[in-house]
Amino acid sequence: MSSCPLPSRISLNNHLYASGVSDELRHLINDIARGGKYVQNAIRTTDLGLAGSSNTFGEDQLKLDVLSNRIIKEELCESRLVHSFASEEESDELQELVVNAPYTVVFDPLDGSSLVDCNLAIGSIFGIYESKGGLIGKKPRDQVAALYLVYGPRTILVYSAGKGAHAFYLNEVGEFNLLQKNLMMRDEVKTYAPGNLRAVVDTPAYRKMMNLWLDEGHTLRYSGGMVPDIHHMLIKGAGIFTNIGGSKYPKGKLRLLFECGPFAYITEQAGGASSDGTKSILDIEIRDLDQRTPIIIGAKKEVKRVSEVLKS
Ligand code: AHG
Ligand code: MN
Ligand code: MN
Repeated sequence: MSSCPLPSRISLNNHLYASGVSDELRHLINDIARGGKYVQNAIRTTDLGLAGSSNTFGEDQLKLDVLSNRIIKEELCESRLVHSFASEEESDELQELVVNAPYTVVFDPLDGSSLVDCNLAIGSIFGIYESKGGLIGKKPRDQVAALYLVYGPRTILVYSAGKGAHAFYLNEVGEFNLLQKNLMMRDEVKTYAPGNLRAVVDTPAYRKMMNLWLDEGHTLRYSGGMVPDIHHMLIKGAGIFTNIGGSKYPKGKLRLLFECGPFAYITEQAGGASSDGTKSILDIEIRDLDQRTPIIIGAKKEVKRVSEVLKS
């Protein structure tokens, strides 16, 4: 019999422990969550201007992109559990940290850079793989956990370690406490978030899909940030998010490793689905660290319908 009193609140650490997540993975998720708190603080206090540098995709970096990336790297180093990592901000190769450590972490330290100056919600996204065997040839289904933080009026963390997806809010003393366990996506559209809509110009099937949503009277909920846009769906338990190709981005704008893979893992754990138009995002083989993929994600039947309409 344990003499521990029944907890009055369920902390992230508590939840991970009670869910049977291994000690090592629990420590790593806690370390990443601590990094998220520092990113959250940086968002409130750092100069919001450009850094004067660009990332490996040639995109201008904000001071906040550079700083968030550094904060996360420091946490991953300190954890001593990370063999290697790849970041969207420096994604040309896997960088090694600790030989023989069990995990490889892929992350986008600050998703939604273009929303920073407008003070809209942004986020950080993480995928965790076992380090053995590297990343090339693996699939996002091989992730052992994925999580994201959304920095809005409140800071919320959602994780899955393969046993459902669970949401936590950051409280005033700096701890993540359970907000909602077992997020569940119903088979309902209700809201749609059509990303890279400029693709309708040369992709008639995407225009057709857009018209169907308009005609059916669904509600548009699109902020331009993948993290709050998908988080919206997960919290409401319904919806569809897309970012598909066109001439500017033939495969859509979003990256398999840093953005689509972790969200596919979390959404499928919440009973939703993801697709590149043909198969689950979780089943796409990783060939390059910076590979992009079209993404259709959200309510199961709608993911199927959108995939079919886009093929027509
Ligand atoms: P980044 O990591 O470069 O800030 O990318 C943000 C992504 C994603 O959050 C969003 O869905 C998409 O960019 C929107 O792209 P556009 O603004 O180009 O439509
Ligand atoms: Mn991003
Ligand atoms: Mn980014």
